[in-house]
Amino acid sequence: MAEHILVVGAGQMGAGIAQVALQAGLKVTLVDVAEAAVNKGAERIRAGLKKLVEKGKLDEAKHQAALANLRTGTSISGVKDVDFAVEAVTENEELKAKIFRELDEVVKPGGVLATNTSSIPITRIASATRRPESVIGMHFMNPVPVMQLVEIIRGAATSDETYAATRALAEKMGKTTVVSKDYPGFIVNRILIPMLNEACYALMEGVASVEDIDTAMKLGTNQPMGPLTLADFIGLDTVLYIAEVMHKGLGDPKYRPCPLLRQYVEAGWLGKKSGRGFYKYNQ
Ligand SMILES: NC(=O)c1ccc[n+]([C@@H]2O[C@H](COP(=O)([O-])OP(=O)(O)OC[C@H]3O[C@@H](n4cnc5c(N)ncnc54)[C@H](O)[C@@H]3O)[C@@H](O)[C@H]2O)c1
Repeated sequence: MAEHILVVGAGQMGAGIAQVALQAGLKVTLVDVAEAAVNKGAERIRAGLKKLVEKGKLDEAKHQAALANLRTGTSISGVKDVDFAVEAVTENEELKAKIFRELDEVVKPGGVLATNTSSIPITRIASATRRPESVIGMHFMNPVPVMQLVEIIRGAATSDETYAATRALAEKMGKTTVVSKDYPGFIVNRILIPMLNEACYALMEGVASVEDIDTAMKLGTNQPMGPLTLADFIGLDTVLYIAEVMHKGLGDPKYRPCPLLRQYVEAGWLGKKSGRGFYKYNQ
């Protein structure tokens, strides 16, 4: 069983992954490109752990152990004795390939090189390394400490041992896993993104208002939030990017991204993170 996890990328996903690994009693090294980014991630983790203590969900001894188990850095190359690496850097294929070449140098033989990518084929990322059998998709949901699911994606060369180690780690983190083939959108986004995209089409075609589309789906299909609110939370640029990957990868016009979604992204209306998407937000 993995004991030392290297998490690359200290953004919203990387910090969340590091936090749940610490809660599971593992040693974690968190790396980002700049000191400021890694400090921000570490701060987010400390705040997340403190909140759990206040809610009575983490006892003080485990809290202190988790804090002591966290190391941070700005370079992969010096990190030693890594059993399992999870990459959660910005969604960019060239960048991920570069990170995987570096991970190939530091992860122990027999260790796992996992990516949290939402849309890039695992098989292509694996080809940047000399051990594609050890590369796998480990797709956490946002926010990581709250969401129960981890989608595991097997690339063309992923070995059974790599899959078993990934599943064991996800379960140690308290998550439920599902397994997907390396196919555009995997499971969750394959089904979710067309729904969000369709909500954009319904809005563009004047079927109903933003509020009524969300209320209809929320109360009519028992979803915790409506599709346009959810798209704002994910980030409209991210929704568009995944829609484009699915359209290109599956080659079926039914996946074409909605022009209104594209226009919002071009306007810089990216959702909650930019203060405006389908709704307006106080920054
Ligand atoms: N946000 C979501 O809802 C969500 C859900 C599932 C999966 N993902 C995936 O997780 C990954 C990260 O997404 P995020 O939302 O955390 O993004 P983010 O922008 O919050 O974080 C990305 C981090 O990567 C860092 N980074 C960039 N270049 C780096 C490098 N060379 N070395 C080390 N760190 C580097 C950035 O400084 C930043 O801190 C992406 O692949 C994304 O597709 C995101």
